[in-house]
Amino acid sequence: MVVAVDGPAAAGKTTTCLALAGTFGLKYLESGRTYRLLAFEALRRSVSVDDESAVVSLCEELIESSRTAGLLEVDRHDAGDLRSRAVNVAVSAVAKFPELRRRVTELVRVWAGAQGRCVVEGRDIGTVVFPAAPVKFYLTATPEARAARRVVQERAGSYEDVLRDVMRRDEADMSRTASPLVPADDAVVIDTTDLAVTQVVDLMASLCRRRGVAIP
Ligand code: DC
Repeated sequence: MVVAVDGPAAAGKTTTCLALAGTFGLKYLESGRTYRLLAFEALRRSVSVDDESAVVSLCEELIESSRTAGLLEVDRHDAGDLRSRAVNVAVSAVAKFPELRRRVTELVRVWAGAQGRCVVEGRDIGTVVFPAAPVKFYLTATPEARAARRVVQERAGSYEDVLRDVMRRDEADMSRTASPLVPADDAVVIDTTDLAVTQVVDLMASLCRRRGVAIP
């Protein structure tokens, strides 16, 4: 049983997924972390992020050396490393490779298969990774609202810089040929621009209940 949550950068996916995970006792996976780990490790090892076969080989090596099914592990990094400006740019390059996306899709499915009940956030969870998920959300908001929130939450730099990065990533995520960011036909689209987090979580939780996601 998978709740799929997709949407552009900084639309509020992580905050709301964590709230749903708490309410419904679901395991939570941020699928973007896998793409970020790959981008981070490619930069650290000077593997070209424009070379698909080199990045796929790196991915296979990390799958081999990781001990947890479905999750890549990389030594020597902390959460901040994965959110650096360099990784933000490199991740858009690696995430467009179809062969790499196939590997990551498989990893996410393996992870979810081992969890049973989970909420997974990303860009293609409801469209490609779990097209049969019983509950799908697509969260969105204006680029300006998303950038403003990120500046407040993460002190992530100047508003102008963050807005530029949000718009650049929207363009990269929406225009790539492999699994572009689009709402699934059966996703519930929530524009969070003028909503408080609690309102968004309430909307999502009530749909989850209606679709039979039980509260343990
Ligand atoms: O959710 P995030 O911002 O941490 O994701 C980082 C990048 O990974 C994002 O810019 C696009 C890519 N991504 C993807 O292509 N597909 C996913 N399911 C999740 C993330």
